[in-house]
Amino acid sequence: MVKIAPSILNADFACLREQLQLLVEGGADYIHLDVMDGHFVPNMTFGPMIVETVRKCIDLPLDVHLMIQDPDRVINDYRNAGADILTVHVETCPHLWRTCDQIREQGAKVGVTLNPSTPIQHLDPILPVVDWVLVMSVEPGYGGQSFLPVALGKLGHLAERKRQENLHYVIEVDGGIDEKTLAPVVHSGAEVLVIGSAIFRSRDVADQLRAFRQTANEM
Ligand code: DX5
Ligand code: ZN
Repeated sequence: MVKIAPSILNADFACLREQLQLLVEGGADYIHLDVMDGHFVPNMTFGPMIVETVRKCIDLPLDVHLMIQDPDRVINDYRNAGADILTVHVETCPHLWRTCDQIREQGAKVGVTLNPSTPIQHLDPILPVVDWVLVMSVEPGYGGQSFLPVALGKLGHLAERKRQENLHYVIEVDGGIDEKTLAPVVHSGAEVLVIGSAIFRSRDVADQLRAFRQTANEM
């Protein structure tokens, strides 16, 4: 069954606890947290303190997407703040194995991801040892961007490799998922959908999330 990881990037942080509660009501499977440093990506968001705040508000697993340079320096901080899954960009990790080992040693699930213009083959060598693979379907940095179809081929590649070699990673897609793009990503192999603005732009956040879940389940 397809799972949904709402991204809180477009949530109203003035009432974060209530916003999180709506996601719980709507049946979120994970909460996706977008950490941006203003260097690797042009935008800046939040650090471990907000991850810890979210951890205190709800029990759902926290899927933390690190769009930051030199993530090795702060992996332990995000794990201590309550991250369950820690996903790093291959573009920021010259020693990807070491970074993945560090995440595993900290007791979190090991996630890897890549920008839309990075070929999926850059992840091929590490796939047998990761728990989670995130395919970016927009340039990382902002919510509310349009879906880039280049993601579909990457999802298909990951699904095929997983099936052929019986690998255990979860395939997640992030960026521009809405009523129109949900079906193609699921058909291409996405198992977890990150959805941000398409949930938070709705007047009824919980209901919109339930609607996405129903559409995904009917596929
Ligand atoms: C983009 C982030 C995404 C984004 C998804 O850098 O990684 O998680 O918030 O938001 P939407 O669904 O608005 O594209
Ligand atoms: Zn993200």
